[in-house]
Amino acid sequence: MPEGGVTLKRWLAVLAGAAAIAAASGCDRSPATGQAALRAPDVVYEPTPHFVVTEMLKLAQVGANDVVYDLGCGDGRIVIAAAKRGARGVCVDIDPQRITESRAKAQRSGVAERILFRNQDLFETDIADATVVTLFLWPSVNLKLRPKLWRELRPGTRVVSYIHSMGDWPPREAQNVEGARGPRELFLWVIESPPN
Ligand SMILES: C[S@@+](CC[C@H](N)C(=O)[O-])C[C@H]1O[C@@H](n2cnc3c(N)ncnc32)[C@H](O)[C@@H]1O
Repeated sequence: MPEGGVTLKRWLAVLAGAAAIAAASGCDRSPATGQAALRAPDVVYEPTPHFVVTEMLKLAQVGANDVVYDLGCGDGRIVIAAAKRGARGVCVDIDPQRITESRAKAQRSGVAERILFRNQDLFETDIADATVVTLFLWPSVNLKLRPKLWRELRPGTRVVSYIHSMGDWPPREAQNVEGARGPRELFLWVIESPPN
């Protein structure tokens, strides 16, 4: 074997050893399992008012058979409210502090065992088993997310967004809600087959 081949083999062995030591010492901080050091959020944190959360869940007709994902979950209030209706849910946030808060609030509300908490980038998280997706992001982020929703969600999945639309993807329904700072809109889309 040429010398270069031996060197490469030795390097691979060293790297494998280092990875094993890191994992054994708890240094493995994969986004799905730990407090990940991720990139900066695409949208700053601002919670949806509780009465709007209720309207979002009503608009999506969330019930006990649903799996509700909030992409950018903040303090988890939407998924927690869904879990109180008997649904299961997944809280996804890029900010580890938000995930810590969500988990603590879900525990206080007695619904933590119905919820998965993922400190992940919403563009990278697996959403295939969602039946409802809720969003309070920004218009440009909604647009960037659209292809992922169409690609990964099953027909019949409902998507609800607070305030921001999805560009030229027409909503199935739009509804006004009164907020402290004036009227705001809620939008509902339903994933169709073939994609909208
Ligand atoms: C406007 S807040 C909405 C919070 C919550 N969904 C609600 O309605 O109360 C947006 C949230 O998205 C999170 N976020 C922003 N960019 C993200 C990304 N790329 N991946 C996951 N979470 C993200 C922020 O950390 C923040 O908690």
